[in-house]
Amino acid sequence: LTEKDMQGMHVTVTAGPTREAMDPVRFLSNHSTGKMGYAIARSAKMRGAEVTLISGPVALEPLDGVRMVPVTSACDMREAVMQALPQSDLVIKAAAVGDYRPATFQDDKIKKHDDDMSVSLVRNPDILAEIGEKRRDDQVICGFSMETRDLLENSTKKLQKKNCDVIVANNLKVKGAGFAGDTNVVTLLYRNGKVEPLELMEKDSVADILLERLVALYRDKNA
Ligand code: C5P
Repeated sequence: LTEKDMQGMHVTVTAGPTREAMDPVRFLSNHSTGKMGYAIARSAKMRGAEVTLISGPVALEPLDGVRMVPVTSACDMREAVMQALPQSDLVIKAAAVGDYRPATFQDDKIKKHDDDMSVSLVRNPDILAEIGEKRRDDQVICGFSMETRDLLENSTKKLQKKNCDVIVANNLKVKGAGFAGDTNVVTLLYRNGKVEPLELMEKDSVADILLERLVALYRDKNA
């Protein structure tokens, strides 16, 4: 590993889940723990980068020497990301952003009654897609993709549609991959069609290899 090979670079990382509130008591969310995003932010910091970590609610300790931006909902996260985008060389979107939110927020607790109930949901903004529209060519943008089937096909579509340089694809159903654990099994998909599967490894090692690749891409673009 090259020491301090990211000196002078500005890196923005998103991590964790979002929470979409229904009323003062309840929210919609997902199982993301933030471990992958925090590992990336920690590794970038150790390599000398200036790191902004935009984090949904997680149980992890804030990282020393990293600009921590806590957010709750997808809309909050969008705002924080758009503010950080212009001064970022690298953006890594490891957060599990909620795709939908309750159509209305009830100021008072929704009371239960004897009947069933349904909740109507509206689409959240797709932050990565918006980055894809607003990005500059000198920036390197990396998204994540978690699927339970047709991993490479779906992830390739996201790479194109969201206009990013790399997608880190992982299949939730593969042993050692996904949310809560300390390991992951990922495949890196590149803009030029290259596909790089990595073996099962610690999330810290995934973070190191990913940054290695993203820094190389950045140097290529800005040579
Ligand atoms: O479309 P999908 O949610 O599978 O795409 C995953 C990638 O897009 C992740 O990098 C995630 O952070 C990002 N994303 C986003 N905003 C959304 C949904 C996903 O930025 N509303």
